[in-house]
Amino acid sequence: MASKRAIYLGVNVDHVATIRQSRGTEYPDPVEMALHAEQAGADGITMHLREDRRHIHDSDIERMAACAATKLNLEMAATAEMREIALRVKPAEVCIVPERRAELTTEGGLDVARHAARLADLVAAFHAAGIRTSLFIDPQPRQIDASKEIHAPVIELHTGKYAGARSRQARQHELTALVAGAQYAQQAGLVVNAGHGLHYTNTQAIAALPEINELNIGHAIVARAMAIGMAPAVAEMKHLMNAARSH
Ligand code: PXP
Repeated sequence: MASKRAIYLGVNVDHVATIRQSRGTEYPDPVEMALHAEQAGADGITMHLREDRRHIHDSDIERMAACAATKLNLEMAATAEMREIALRVKPAEVCIVPERRAELTTEGGLDVARHAARLADLVAAFHAAGIRTSLFIDPQPRQIDASKEIHAPVIELHTGKYAGARSRQARQHELTALVAGAQYAQQAGLVVNAGHGLHYTNTQAIAALPEINELNIGHAIVARAMAIGMAPAVAEMKHLMNAARSH
């Protein structure tokens, strides 16, 4: 029997920086917390450098890129400023996310189909620099096709609607869309990641999908870390993911 593929966890430490910025202190340090996450089994660290620098700052990205034992995934908008930073810092991966309403699809992911030319240019520039690009999209065939057409190697399926669904029926509806999207994207040859809004009680249904390569999870892990510490919070999430994958 073929062995099941491993599933990877990228830990997003933005909200460690949110706490720091709420007081303008130097603590807590998202890089220090990221190192605890790595020691507990995180397979990568994700940081979102927003245009307004509301949580993660440029120096966090630089320090993280210099000391990551795993890999740094830089989330960023498709702007000239962020492109310049990514090409200078050279994270292992970049995930392009929408930051303005005009860049969003109706559901909330990046509108790749609409911004294909600009995004194709970014994907090519990052590829030339040895950076793997992921596009944060809704599980819509139109967006998956557009991602494939511009040669993005990876997509991250937006799980926000699934996570935010209020009824069992609505959640099942969103899960069905994610299953179909993950299958469609994998058949198109894309690496399929997923994330946003995942927590300790809704992650297993996503982790169980064999097409999913990696989950990016932030808020729930940072929140759980307040009760039990960063390393146990990461280990607990990894355990849940691995258990879902081994069934
Ligand atoms: N993936 C992407 C592309 C995101 O923008 C975010 C939020 O920054 C996450 C994953 C993590 O979401 P959450 O903090 O809800 O786990």
